[in-house]
Amino acid sequence: MEKVRIGLAGAGFAARFHFDNFPESGVEVVGVTSARGESRDRFAAERGLRAFASVEEMLPHIDVLDICTPPSSHRDYILAAAAAGKHIIVEKPLTGFYGSPAAHDKPHMLEAVVEEARRLREAVSKAGITLGYAENFVYAPSIQKEREIVEKTGAQILRMVGEESHNGSHSPVYGIWSIQGGGSLIAKACHPLGAVLYLKRKEGLARHGKPIRPAAVSARTHSITRLPGFEDKGFLRAHYQDTEDYAFLHVVFDDGMVADITASELVLGGIYDFVEVFANNHRTRCRMSPVQVVDVYNPKHEQFKDLYLVEKLSSNEGWIPASPEEGWSLGYGRELRDFIGCIRAGRTPQSDLDLAIDITLALYAGYVSAAQLGRETAVPRIS
Ligand SMILES: NC(=O)c1ccc[n+]([C@@H]2O[C@H](COP(=O)([O-])OP(=O)(O)OC[C@H]3O[C@@H](n4cnc5c(N)ncnc54)[C@H](O)[C@@H]3O)[C@@H](O)[C@H]2O)c1
Repeated sequence: MEKVRIGLAGAGFAARFHFDNFPESGVEVVGVTSARGESRDRFAAERGLRAFASVEEMLPHIDVLDICTPPSSHRDYILAAAAAGKHIIVEKPLTGFYGSPAAHDKPHMLEAVVEEARRLREAVSKAGITLGYAENFVYAPSIQKEREIVEKTGAQILRMVGEESHNGSHSPVYGIWSIQGGGSLIAKACHPLGAVLYLKRKEGLARHGKPIRPAAVSARTHSITRLPGFEDKGFLRAHYQDTEDYAFLHVVFDDGMVADITASELVLGGIYDFVEVFANNHRTRCRMSPVQVVDVYNPKHEQFKDLYLVEKLSSNEGWIPASPEEGWSLGYGRELRDFIGCIRAGRTPQSDLDLAIDITLALYAGYVSAAQLGRETAVPRIS
């Protein structure tokens, strides 16, 4: 194919950073569709794209559907693209359970997600298409450097710790289980979890020719901002409808090694994202954000109020660890280059459907564990 033709589903935050980070050559972003006509038309007009009324209408005009819509719509769009023989890029989470948590217990949710993952796997495999799972942590330069160290030195990873936390989300539909499929665990822990599962996969392939996968998890979830004793000073987003705002996930891998992941909505001061690796021959701190390339001091917020310095900072006053190029430090550019290269060459991306399914099932096994106050729960496997 001369140029890979992309169609964006969604015209919000993720669609913007995907659009900005596609490779400059060999790709044409053809159009966009989104639930709200007004923002879709504005997004299209500002970027010279065609606005389509629906994914179905856009599919005949594209080679790749890039899904940047809220999580509850991912499954239907993956199935529609696969049925049309189109390649897929899908934002996190791959999929989830979108019923009310008051009406469904967690083991039921896990069973339903296992079935859903099976269905998606069958559809993608039958269509013979490439699916890129947009877990940008996998592509962050710090994680890719660690992957190289593990592969080239035959390292054994003994334990890892990771976190993604920041103050809520800009999305108005965040905090609603029926749209997001959960809270901090599914929406934020997915990132460092994606990185640690990826690194153990790579270690296994390098040392034994077979990925090392998550075997069991223990988790706790809490709704701190809904506690009667929480004192709201107005700085943190609160009022999540029915999702947790703090999550902790302990992962045990096939080889008995471990990882501990924390995720929360309770952190002020911009994004707090890292993964630290403790191996038998080295130790690595992977920073995603802030990466401390530039520190800017601004004595008065008003001066910088329209400047973008780093994601999710609530005030541009004082010392700021500004991010000069988030597409690089957070891996967005490398991720989209890998997906496009793999689609052209028929290769499997670094962040693929198998990794996405392991992440999703580990997270929902985490919800089952959290409902039993941290009891160890096996991570189901469908392959
Ligand atoms: N990788 C990351 O770091 C990262 C960061 C933010 C969001 N995300 C993911 O990106 C996805 C979108 O999140 P966002 O922050 O851009 O949300 P957003 O609310 O900013 O944008 C969502 C867009 O999708 C549209 N939309 C909603 N329902 C739709 C439907 N059924 N069909 C078509 N369009 C629909 C909305 O009108 C809006 O244009 C989510 O899956 C989220 O988890 C990933």
